[in-house]
Amino acid sequence: MAVTIKTEILPVCETSVLRAADMLCCGEVVAVPSETVYGLAADATNEQAVLKIFSVKRRPADNPLIVHCDSKNMALTLIKEASSDFNLLADTFWPGPLTIVTTQNGILPSVVTAGGSTVALRVPADDFFKSVITACGVPLAAPSANLSTRVSPTSAKDVLAQLSGIIPLIIDGGDCRVGVESSIIYLSGDTPVLLRPGDITIEELENTLHKKIILPEKNTPTAPGMKYKHYAPRSKITLYSGNDFGKFLKKQSHPFGAVCFEEEIKEIEANVKISFGRFDDVKAQQRMLFSIIKNLDDYLPLHWYIHINNKHSAVYNRLIKAAGGDEFTR
Ligand code: TXA
Ligand code: MG
Repeated sequence: MAVTIKTEILPVCETSVLRAADMLCCGEVVAVPSETVYGLAADATNEQAVLKIFSVKRRPADNPLIVHCDSKNMALTLIKEASSDFNLLADTFWPGPLTIVTTQNGILPSVVTAGGSTVALRVPADDFFKSVITACGVPLAAPSANLSTRVSPTSAKDVLAQLSGIIPLIIDGGDCRVGVESSIIYLSGDTPVLLRPGDITIEELENTLHKKIILPEKNTPTAPGMKYKHYAPRSKITLYSGNDFGKFLKKQSHPFGAVCFEEEIKEIEANVKISFGRFDDVKAQQRMLFSIIKNLDDYLPLHWYIHINNKHSAVYNRLIKAAGGDEFTR
């Protein structure tokens, strides 16, 4: 029989930092806010605590975790050497929504890295999260605080909906500023590879490194977690990346919903319409993405057409998975 525990929710404050750190140091898991999405944290140096993350999330053991540090200095204690690319990226984008994968030095228990030779590192920008890491004095492993294959949470309420009665503590830091998970760059090969697009774009990364970065679909390795089914609501989703969404929708005969840009919402015809923000407001689209995906199922059963406009974006990367690859370009 599954054991249910009481899930406490605390606000972001000094006392909560100490309370969360206390629990983490005792080997518990705690859901914490970050600027990207909420994370399910555990002491990365404590094998049993890290195993709890896998069991709570029902996460396959071959999917390694991101290790969160309070500073570049803490990150340096976990890796073999800091290449010039590592230094450039860490100095430019940390603290922030960039995860850097590089060769590890074997200090962490192997469950964290799924037995691999590399470790994924990030210094989060969220002050609360960083203070908890500092209070613990150890790096914290933290995947997104959702059940495996489900949508990442961007509010404490989202975490509670999935993990209530399963974890002891959620810290409520409000809505996440970015709304999609961090960009992940792999630095252990000859050329850097963008394993997962996020808020920090490939252009920003290339401009910092002054070199080309390989995109995930063109090369391996990709992040192990990307092979799992993700983000899929029960509703059917089809993406549309052409330039006349209204005309395309007129050709559909079954009842359907449309997720469209603010500029076209008046003109298009659909049974239900949801705005995805303004055409060129990528940041707003990122922030809204996961709540839109979650809301689609409120209208079941419905086939959703979603207008997208940038195939290199974090938004497209998540939506094409939600759509199971179903996309029209004209
Ligand atoms: O924004 C984020 O990155 C959030 C917050 C909480 O920091 N975390 C997050 O973690 O999204 P998660 O576990 O949901 O996604 C991490 C991804 C997975 O696809 C995993 O396979 C990949 O990072 N990953 C972790 N370690 C890796 C490694 N050593 N090499 C390649 N990919 C790795
Ligand atoms: Mg995740």
